[in-house]
Parts: sequence; C-alpha cells; structure tokens
Amino acid sequence: IPLDIYEYEEEGCKVVAEEIADLIREKQQKGEMCVLGLATGNSPRGVYKELVRLHKEDNLSFSNVITFNLDEYYPMEKTSVNSYNHYMNELLFDHVDIKPENIYVPDGSVARDKIKEYCNAYEKKIDEVGGIDLQLLGIGRTGHIGFNEPGSYMNSYTRIIALDDITIDDAVKDFGSLSEVPKGAITMGVGSIFKAQKIILLAWGSNKAEIIKKAVEGKITDDVPASFLQQHKNVKFVVDIYAAGELT
Ligand code: F6R
Repeated sequence: IPLDIYEYEEEGCKVVAEEIADLIREKQQKGEMCVLGLATGNSPRGVYKELVRLHKEDNLSFSNVITFNLDEYYPMEKTSVNSYNHYMNELLFDHVDIKPENIYVPDGSVARDKIKEYCNAYEKKIDEVGGIDLQLLGIGRTGHIGFNEPGSYMNSYTRIIALDDITIDDAVKDFGSLSEVPKGAITMGVGSIFKAQKIILLAWGSNKAEIIKKAVEGKITDDVPASFLQQHKNVKFVVDIYAAGELT
C-alpha cells in the first residue's frame, strides 16, 4: 500500500483536501458529477475544514458533488449531537453549496424491520449514480474501516453490525458514558468500499501505529478488515510520522 507520510496532520489533511478539490473541478469541467464517499470521526476533520475554506476563499463549488457517508450509529436520531448526520452538517454540508438531495448519510432511526430493505436501497443508490469516485476512510483500533469490525468479509455490503467492544470504549469520550454508546451501526461493507475508483485512508497519532502496521504489513485477514485494502488497485494511506511509527 503506497504511503504518504507527513510530519503534521494539518499538512496531510490539506493535501488530501486539494486532491478532492482537483477531482471536483476536473469533473466540473467535463460536466460530470463527482461522487465522494465520506468518513466521520476525528481523522478527516482537517480535510473538511480545508474544503470549507476552499469553498469560501477559492471558489470551489460542490454543485456537482454527490456524497455517501460510510456509516451511522444504530439506533441514532439524525438530530442527535452524537449522530454522524449532525457531524457532517456541522463540519461540511452547512458550509458549502452541495444540493441537499445529493447528500446520503445512513439513517440510524429506521425501524428494525425496515433495516435490510433500507441498506439494500443505500447500496443500490451508490451503484445507480455510477459508483464512488473517491472514498475517504479512517481506521479504528480494531482495524475497522467504516464500521466493518473484525469478522467482516470482502463481500460484505451495506448492513447493520454490532460494534466491537474496543470501538465502544473509544466512543465513550464522545458520548460521556458507556451506557450512552449505541451498540450497533449501519455501515457500508468492505465490498461497497472496494467498488470505489480510488481510496484514501487517513490515520494520525501513535495510537494508530499498531493497527497501521497490521493493515499495511500484516497478512490479509478478516481479523483486520483494513488489511483487505492491500488488494485494492488504487489505494493510498496518508498518515503522520506517529501513525507510521511501527512500520518496518
Ligand atoms: C467513521 C468511520 C470509522 C472511523 C474510525 C476512526 O465514519 O467509518 O471507521 O474512521 O473509527 O475514527 P477516528 O478518526 O475518530 O480515529
């Protein structure tokens, strides 16, 4: 897996935002839509900040952009401050000229008996618009991409999953207490992610070093779902020197 290693997270985020902006503009010139797969969490914050700046100060328009977010907690109301729907509005969508009808974030409030149907429709929608041009990813300490926890296979698609205990522990700081953290999520699958033309995974800080080593240098296994990325034909990891710290 090709690696771009930066000293500072901010620097890496700016370069990734530039790359996304270039793709949006290139598609604009051709009169095409640009389909982005987006992640939440801490890792992409700087990318969204820079994209908002490029919109405000450098005329970058999102009028030809369609977005699909990877995941949402389940159960979760869209309006909750802890929802990924809320996160995306706050960090990106409320500040740029994307058309509301072009935004897709999984809905964590669909009725239990409608989840399967809902997930299949989400997956189908991605295919209908022509697939994802560029997919942004973070990585969890379990090796999850999206919320594809260990045990997720290459041929998994949008579905409901149970969060790993480590992932739940990592979410306690956002939710305040363990009992508040949802135990499930709706997530695009490893297979959904693999359909993207290009994939960029972001990881910052030394607490990601161990899992980055496993994902990049370890064997390809569903114990570390991110290791499947070794088989994608257009993927790169953008990391800082701390997240790269265990690589040989
Ligand atoms: C979020 C997502 C997750 C996160 C991962 C890392 O949409 O899909 O896979 O990317 O849990 O989270 P952070 O960036 O907060 O360390």
